Amino acid sequence: MSRKILLLKYPWGVSWTGMLLIAGEQNILMDTGLPETIGAFLLPRLRCEGVSPGSLKWVLNTHSHSDHAGGNRNLRGVCHAVFGIHRSGAEELRRSGCPPDLLLEDGMVLPCGDTRIRVIHTPGHSPDSVCYLDVESGTLFTGDALQGGGTPYSGIALYQDPVAYRESVDRIEALYRSGACARIFCGHECPPYEGTVEGTRIPEFLSLCRDASLRYTSAAGEYLGRHPDADAGKVGAFLLAEFGVGKNPSMPELPRLTAEAHLRELRGCGRRNRS
Ligand SMILES: [Fe+2]
Repeated sequence: MSRKILLLKYPWGVSWTGMLLIAGEQNILMDTGLPETIGAFLLPRLRCEGVSPGSLKWVLNTHSHSDHAGGNRNLRGVCHAVFGIHRSGAEELRRSGCPPDLLLEDGMVLPCGDTRIRVIHTPGHSPDSVCYLDVESGTLFTGDALQGGGTPYSGIALYQDPVAYRESVDRIEALYRSGACARIFCGHECPPYEGTVEGTRIPEFLSLCRDASLRYTSAAGEYLGRHPDADAGKVGAFLLAEFGVGKNPSMPELPRLTAEAHLRELRGCGRRNRS
């Protein structure tokens, strides 16, 4: 059976949230979008691709945020797949009423018929963020682990831990340099990247991710020097004005979260728990 690898983009507000379908000897879905994604988009799309929901063997979440794992419960009602997430995201899924079947760890390799899926823990955006490498094709699905220079939702890159985020970027770069990764699919559009990054554009994209974060650190530090009492909201607005993608993100409250992370970094408050 020939394998098919497709980035499925569920239209969401100003852009889309992505899922990766790998159809082969064992059908794999990575991420499930929002609750409404399943009936409104995923099931009809699977039918178009000749994949019945009941044939899904694996449903793997990149992290527990609701635009990536929000469809789990509705999908579980129509399939018998093994649902997996990094162990640090399990509690969040339990709280959502849809506990995972399989807790994943960095380095695990899932045997999936004609391919293997390697789990790569890439915290930073969230503690539970992982990327999944389809070993057979060298395809990496990153969810929200890579943010480029920002998405149309947040305007700037969105993460909880800048140091962990940049380390995760380094880790993915090492994977690319080793020859294991030939193509990256992201969970959202990261302008000017549409969500798919291939070949020699990969190091360019990874540099954008790393450099954006370093620029935020430097700019936030300078801003704090001029405005020592500034709160995260003000720093976030400043970062958005300086570096924002399109300047008008649809969720303008989100840059505050990245700013909070940089304030912790600059004030030496240590890292968030990344276990
Ligand atoms: Fe996320």
